[in-house]
Amino acid sequence: MIPLTLEQEVNQIGYVSRSVPKDKDLAEEIRRMKQEKNAVILAHYYVDGAIQDLADYIGDSLGLSQQAAATDADIIVFCGVHFMGETAKILSPDKKVIIPDLNAGCSLADSAPADKFAAFKAQYPDHIVLSYINCSAEIKALSDIIVTSSNALKIVESLPKDQKIIFAPDANLGRFVSKKTGRDMVLWDGACIVHIDISQEKLNALRVKYPNAKFIAHPECQEHILSQADFVGSTTALLKYVVDQPEMEFIVGTEAGILHKMKQAVPHKKIIPAPANENNTCACSECPYMKMNTIEKLYNTLYYELPEIRVPEDVRVKAYDSVMRMLEMSKNL
Ligand code: 13P
Ligand code: SF4
Repeated sequence: MIPLTLEQEVNQIGYVSRSVPKDKDLAEEIRRMKQEKNAVILAHYYVDGAIQDLADYIGDSLGLSQQAAATDADIIVFCGVHFMGETAKILSPDKKVIIPDLNAGCSLADSAPADKFAAFKAQYPDHIVLSYINCSAEIKALSDIIVTSSNALKIVESLPKDQKIIFAPDANLGRFVSKKTGRDMVLWDGACIVHIDISQEKLNALRVKYPNAKFIAHPECQEHILSQADFVGSTTALLKYVVDQPEMEFIVGTEAGILHKMKQAVPHKKIIPAPANENNTCACSECPYMKMNTIEKLYNTLYYELPEIRVPEDVRVKAYDSVMRMLEMSKNL
């Protein structure tokens, strides 16, 4: 049998499985290769703390898209999930965009297959499509405006009152925006497996244990969880809240990776992750896709410059319009 080339192997399994040097400090090697190759590492708050510490920029989905659009690096290494790498490629088609593991998907993006969504959209010809950035390039190409958790409310508010809207793919974020803005929207029924898994029972017990703690949550959580929150916001907004507020204790209803930055920013405050139903190793909410990013895979992705994100050009140009509309609208918000 002819052995597979590295590229063929990566296409099959989604990442470079070669062993990494045992005698070298991988973090140091990653920093060195980054300089040598003029690469930039962008990381979402949900990836492992050790990876966040190696990143040039750590942020929420909006901030990461803005960075991907503005960078003058030759290579963008995206430590996040697949749709984030795709968004970087949509915005910067001339850059090489690589991610540590192509298998790092997202339940929201997976909930909206392009063919089913196109048929759904066809039922509402007089509606515009607002899609949460957590969707595939194909869904972005079928959308009019992309939104993130930090600008969805303001973008919806900026639209004419009689504008009919489809909101996809996160029904929880859609319901939250609809309630806040008073706008009736047609919702696609997708959800984030991590945020819908916060345990009400365990949260109750935690609030009894920490009666002075503020409970803050990401809008991907379910309505009954959001209705108990003292503050709802994107990951960047949640981080800003714990820094700015005078309180000393916070229960945080989102993926636990954000605690790394929160603890660095306010080491004197008590930051408690909201508990999940699932018994994860940390007894908190962890995104299994974000956690596919490891230091070893990051080393290999930079070393071999694989796997690379590719978006068909006809899809990319349409998706570019809806993402750029968001970036333009976000400037004035
Ligand atoms: P933000 O980055 O907009 O806070 O969204 C969180 C998320 O779930 C990303 O996958
Ligand atoms: Fe997707 Fe949820 Fe993971 Fe974010 S936390 S990448 S929305 S599955």
